[in-house]
Amino acid sequence: MSAPAVTTELADYRRQSPAVAERFQKLRERPVVLEVRDLTRTFATRQGGETVALRSLNFCAHRREFMCLIGPSGCGKSTLIRLLAGLDEPTSGQVLLDGQPVSGPCPDRGMVFQGYTLFPWRTVLGNVMFGLEMGGMESGRAKSEALQWLDLVNLTKFKDAYPAQLSGGMKQRVAIARALATNPRILLMDEPFGALDAQTRAQMQSYLLQIWRNVDVTIVFITHDLDEAIYLADRILVLKAHPGEVQELIEVPVPRPRGPAQFATPEFLATRRRIDELIHPPLESAGEKLPIVRLTVVGDDVE
Ligand SMILES: Nc1ncnc2c1ncn2[C@@H]1O[C@H](COP(=O)(O)OP(=O)(O)O)[C@@H](O)[C@H]1O
Ligand SMILES: [Mg+2]
Repeated sequence: MSAPAVTTELADYRRQSPAVAERFQKLRERPVVLEVRDLTRTFATRQGGETVALRSLNFCAHRREFMCLIGPSGCGKSTLIRLLAGLDEPTSGQVLLDGQPVSGPCPDRGMVFQGYTLFPWRTVLGNVMFGLEMGGMESGRAKSEALQWLDLVNLTKFKDAYPAQLSGGMKQRVAIARALATNPRILLMDEPFGALDAQTRAQMQSYLLQIWRNVDVTIVFITHDLDEAIYLADRILVLKAHPGEVQELIEVPVPRPRGPAQFATPEFLATRRRIDELIHPPLESAGEKLPIVRLTVVGDDVE
């Protein structure tokens, strides 16, 4: 299926702004870190049939790109991230990291999930040291490296605390430090801020942008929050469901460095409208509209 035409409004931002065009030109010239080639994943259903979770996905992420993936629930986002991480195998197609096929998990791919996945029996420092020690690093050096990462996520003061003593946002900052400590080429994040309250979530988004600016890492970040995707991403891959396919790759025209004030800018709103159109297309026929069932008595109408 060919991607629908880009709305004039968003396309206009690309044409009119040489700075935006130049930014994406430069991004495309950077080396490809992640390449997804014709990726398909089907699952057997209990009824003996097949669900096509992902069909013929093709895209690339470039060095130090921040790519967001967005799509309705069930469109295959978690399936895709598991394939990228090497935790699952494709039915057909390939995932390449720096040109090498991905097979099995490996420290060059860091992961952060929504659920808190810290080891409860290890301190904050112990959690960040874990991957380094597993990789064979001597414990003195692992400790000094882990402390640098804790400094980056501003949690040095909490190095001796246990996960149960931390707030949700702090736990996710430890998880980010732990994932980055082994110097992965790519950081895979599956709705990492989904369980946080709105204020902490906004804070974490700004933190993540600061961290990303200071680290040589490509990020693939899954979310179903439109504002979060636009605020964070260079490009947004919009997926559709049943089967999961690429619907459009959107270059976000909002300039960097980003700040919360940009949520109200015309570029931001145009991008938001475009994604909204893709994810929530207008109902095609009157027959698909919800039936109206009146449960109120006449005379108490609301707008
Ligand atoms: N292990 C599995 N076995 C069978 N079906 C699965 C499995 N994992 C995912 N699916 C199906 O694949 C589709 C995509 O799921 P998922 O990747 O979790 O979507 P998302 O993360 O976008 O909500 C869904 O229809 C889901 O039921
Ligand atoms: Mg999911």
